[in-house]
Amino acid sequence: MKRRAFLSGALSAATATLFARRAFAQGADDAMHGMSDMPAMSGGMIHAQVPLAAADALPAGEPLATLRALANQSREPGLFRATLIAQLAARALLHGQPQTIFWQYDADVTANDGPVIGPLIDVHEGDTVEITFVNRLPQPSTIHWHGLPVPPDQDGNPSKPVAPGERHVYRFTLPQGSAGTYWYHPHPHMLSSEQVFRGLAGPFVVRAATDPLAAWPERHLFVSDLKLAADGTIPGNGMMDWMNGREGQYVLVNGAREPRIEVMGDERWRVWNGCNARYLQLAFDDGRAFAQVGTDGGLLGAPREGITSLLLAPGERAELIVRVGQGASRASLIAARYDRHKMAMTHGSLPAGPSLILANVGFAPASAAAQLALPGRLREVAPLVSSGPLTVPQKSVVFSEAMDMKAMHAPGASTQPMPRGMQFMVNGAVFDPARVTLASRRGEVEHWAIANGTDMDHPFHLHGTQFQVVAREWGGVRKAEELLAWRDTVNVRPGETVHIATVQHEAGDRMFHCHILEHEDLGMMGTLRVS
Ligand code: C2O
Ligand code: CU
Ligand code: CU
Repeated sequence: MKRRAFLSGALSAATATLFARRAFAQGADDAMHGMSDMPAMSGGMIHAQVPLAAADALPAGEPLATLRALANQSREPGLFRATLIAQLAARALLHGQPQTIFWQYDADVTANDGPVIGPLIDVHEGDTVEITFVNRLPQPSTIHWHGLPVPPDQDGNPSKPVAPGERHVYRFTLPQGSAGTYWYHPHPHMLSSEQVFRGLAGPFVVRAATDPLAAWPERHLFVSDLKLAADGTIPGNGMMDWMNGREGQYVLVNGAREPRIEVMGDERWRVWNGCNARYLQLAFDDGRAFAQVGTDGGLLGAPREGITSLLLAPGERAELIVRVGQGASRASLIAARYDRHKMAMTHGSLPAGPSLILANVGFAPASAAAQLALPGRLREVAPLVSSGPLTVPQKSVVFSEAMDMKAMHAPGASTQPMPRGMQFMVNGAVFDPARVTLASRRGEVEHWAIANGTDMDHPFHLHGTQFQVVAREWGGVRKAEELLAWRDTVNVRPGETVHIATVQHEAGDRMFHCHILEHEDLGMMGTLRVS
């Protein structure tokens, strides 16, 4: 790895006039490690930044907000029609400071309260969805339908930007079998990270006509990340944000810090990791068990009972069963400590951050009325490939990184909107819109091996389809994956190779990339051409 060279370069840079020594809004990691001397870059300027707001400056403990639903404007059965406007939205967050300006999806122009999370799109298999996207941002944008099997030309690819002031209609029909927990977010070339950290992301649920859990009360937890300066502004990305992916001092659930949830009876939870880079090792702080019933692409074959922790990498979703019982009790839902091997400027890697409280949960005592029977079988999940020798075409994806000191510290490097000299690559190259990385044929099941040749975790994500993880290989040991499940995002640890089975059903270009959005913007992305 190039890490060592990078470190010495960074140290010498600290003495260069390019980097003035003062406090910048660089996040908890940097402050903790005394690396507050790298300027943040955004919009082609070095910002003189104010310090971050205190970790407890945002109010906490309000009841969990319900996500707004996007209203259907159509009366035609089977057609969901609505408008999503990407626009600036002000919220009073910090006492005595100017309002914070987020970027937000909304159906109209004046929704200035409630969670900044985009409205929930809640539809059924078989529905045709028609969304008019209006871009009122100062940048080009797109809407990408993360995880959904939509035609390639409707999927918000970076090659199809919608200019500021313009509008675009996305239209797709959701096939049978697509029920699951999805989301939508911008995907413009090199601007996805900023648009998501300023607030653009929303949940999307597809329901089946026959859902074995239809009777269960449902709760939605959309987790996002926020870095906030003490003056109420949302600062641009600094060097550390680009390198490790941005993590703010706040992790929010439905737009709020540490909301309260009262579980009065057994519930089905859908949880989204909509953070740019934060890993969520979901657990209750008292170690209580829950069940997992679904992944990104819908229900499992059968519930996984007795789970005490579940990793959701950036972009991933899960469906959980949370039950009352054990008398009346309270517990915190936490993102437990997880070491994703973040790089440091001063030494090899940063220690894992402390565990964080996502929500405080009260549980009612068990009672016959509050308890529901969980079916032993949820649906049929057929394996894409049979076990035994692989007879399907093989493809290889390798994540790599390179830190080029010369470029990084060349005069003017830090006045660029993107940091120079930091390369995050797929198959040896950073993303080039003009290059096709891999080619597939539609309807052909393939085996992909995704290898992480870097020093840190990267979540792999493929557009347009759901895949199955078939095996994981690490330290020369290959382990078959026990959980048969539909996913569109899977974490790959340093040195690990994750084997997936996948198939594309429509001709066109699909993106695949690391879902740490800073890495995606920096080029850890490729194009799959399906013919
Ligand atoms: Cu959620 Cu290509 O992204
Ligand atoms: Cu996606
Ligand atoms: Cu990455």
